[in-house]
Amino acid sequence: MPRHLLQLEGLDAPALTALLDRAESFIPAARGEAAAPASLAGKLVANLFFEDSTRTRLSFEAAAARLGARSLALQGSGSSTSKGETFLDTALNVEALGVDAIVVRTDLSGGPAQLAGHVRCAVINAGDGRHEHPTQGLLDCLTIRRALGGFQGATIAIVGDIANSRVARSALHALTTLGAKVRLIGPPTLMPKSFAQVPAVAENVSISNDLDANLHDLDAIMMLRVQLERAAGGSIASDYRVQYGLTRDRASRLPARCIVMHPGPVNRGVEVDDDVADDRRRSQILLQVTHGVAVRMAVLDHCLVG
Ligand code: NCD
Repeated sequence: MPRHLLQLEGLDAPALTALLDRAESFIPAARGEAAAPASLAGKLVANLFFEDSTRTRLSFEAAAARLGARSLALQGSGSSTSKGETFLDTALNVEALGVDAIVVRTDLSGGPAQLAGHVRCAVINAGDGRHEHPTQGLLDCLTIRRALGGFQGATIAIVGDIANSRVARSALHALTTLGAKVRLIGPPTLMPKSFAQVPAVAENVSISNDLDANLHDLDAIMMLRVQLERAAGGSIASDYRVQYGLTRDRASRLPARCIVMHPGPVNRGVEVDDDVADDRRRSQILLQVTHGVAVRMAVLDHCLVG
């Protein structure tokens, strides 16, 4: 049976912690400071990215390379999807090339799970529509764990376009499972009502439209990009930064211990001011990218070796 990573929802705390521990052990190799075991030597990993990506695609390639695997890359533009080949047919043909794993990003929520029902190789979700982005959720958790020392008692805000964010969904599941309290903060038009209605989650989750009222006691603040490509554009006001941007003034009202995170790509001056994004004392934005390589090494190793 292949092991897949399709979502973080449903993974319990020991399973999440085991992946974080494995990722932690790969950090020196992810930084290029130590050699990793060639546990994936001879393996072939196909990266199928039907949506744009910089960090996720390259870090899957870096992770595979660090562990001795080879990567094949296919992007949506330039592939036969432009000739009408379906997502599933494309993936089945890639499997027929003999790959050991398919890493897939698609605008189709549930696309990777559908694919996993049809192939024998491992399937890793690199972001599916508004659903989940499990490796991003893991790297966010790893970053928080390393900065704060743990999750119990930590209060973490996720700010912005919650409704359209797969990053928010994966982080929410993982952080609450690991014992953190999460505040979802954003404009009413970008806030799903459903999160509040899930009783298991609601205990540790609060929802607010008021960023200013929530700054004073945070341990971490995760800013999200407004997902213009997912029709969020129509529902954001031109004063988004005024109400929901992490401006220099707002950052000065965060506790000194509070770290600043963003999955990238950052729209500077919209979600985060330049000064705040570049403040290496609290901004974790580039560290998140390095942790992403370690997490993807851990996930590839888990799915392909065990
Ligand atoms: C995120 C994504 O694609 O979901 N980016 C990423 O993977 N680092 C967030 C985003 O695009 O806003």
